[in-house]
Amino acid sequence: MIISKRINETKVTLDLCRKRGMTIGFVPTMGALHQGHLELVKRAKRENDYMMCSIFVNPIQFNNKSDLEKYPRETESDLEKLKKNGCDLLFMPSEEEMYPEPVTTVFDFGQLDKLMEGQYRPGHFNGVAIVVKKLFEIIEPDRAYFGEKDFQQLAIVRHMNKTLDKPVQIVACPTVREQDGLAMSSRNTRLTPGERALAPFIYQVLQGVKNNAGKQSVAELKSWVSNQFDKYPAMRLEYFAIVEMQTLTPIEKWDNSPNIIACIAVYLGNVRLIDNIVLFS
Ligand code: PAJ
Repeated sequence: MIISKRINETKVTLDLCRKRGMTIGFVPTMGALHQGHLELVKRAKRENDYMMCSIFVNPIQFNNKSDLEKYPRETESDLEKLKKNGCDLLFMPSEEEMYPEPVTTVFDFGQLDKLMEGQYRPGHFNGVAIVVKKLFEIIEPDRAYFGEKDFQQLAIVRHMNKTLDKPVQIVACPTVREQDGLAMSSRNTRLTPGERALAPFIYQVLQGVKNNAGKQSVAELKSWVSNQFDKYPAMRLEYFAIVEMQTLTPIEKWDNSPNIIACIAVYLGNVRLIDNIVLFS
């Protein structure tokens, strides 16, 4: 595996691949890799001639300074995992390499960033779109792989991608879960044992929502969810939303659209976890 910290070096290597007619699959990450990331890596490996990954803890997408400071950094074990999964090139730039000058681009995502993560993490998606755009422009991959766990991020990336001169094929990959249902996340390692034991409840509630979608009204389900979390003082529900999958418009009634997803964010102590479940598609 080639490890490159420089943009120019990365471009030279990838140009050689393209000249040889190879397709390039790309998995952008912030490191602290777990099986969720590795499923993206494996799929990119299967579907492309050349597989590359990036690790960059992007400071401008953290709206909370302490979240950035506490973000896990596990470079050594990340490198091992990537090598083991056949990654050909790892791009691992410094902050100066990515942002020699402050970036001031402001994207207009329309309705897409008004609710859910966008509402509670102001500036977050603008920072995500800036870094993914820059990575796409450096790498020019044929395909880029993103997890459905970050469903709103996927919608933002698709939106930004449409504005590019050379749009990339975006591949959405299913959420990988622990055996008890908890969605894998780099943040899970920050849970105390007690919090970790409670965390699968989030997905259990989402499954409860799916089982009752269409049977109970949207309003009834929303209040059922909020009652569920009221029972556990250790967990704080930040939002629960039922939205249309393409536009992320909240729905009031079930008959509005065939593609509907429920999204949730919950605090356990100071760790914020998100998850989602498709209700109708
Ligand atoms: P990060 O949180 O490291 O996630 C990298 C990719 O892995 C994202 O596409 C995310 O959706 C996916 N992923 C994380 N957990 C997953 C799981 N349990 N199952 C399936 N996929 C999962 O998301 C980011 O980094 C950043 O915002 C980034 C896109 C790299 C831009 O900085």
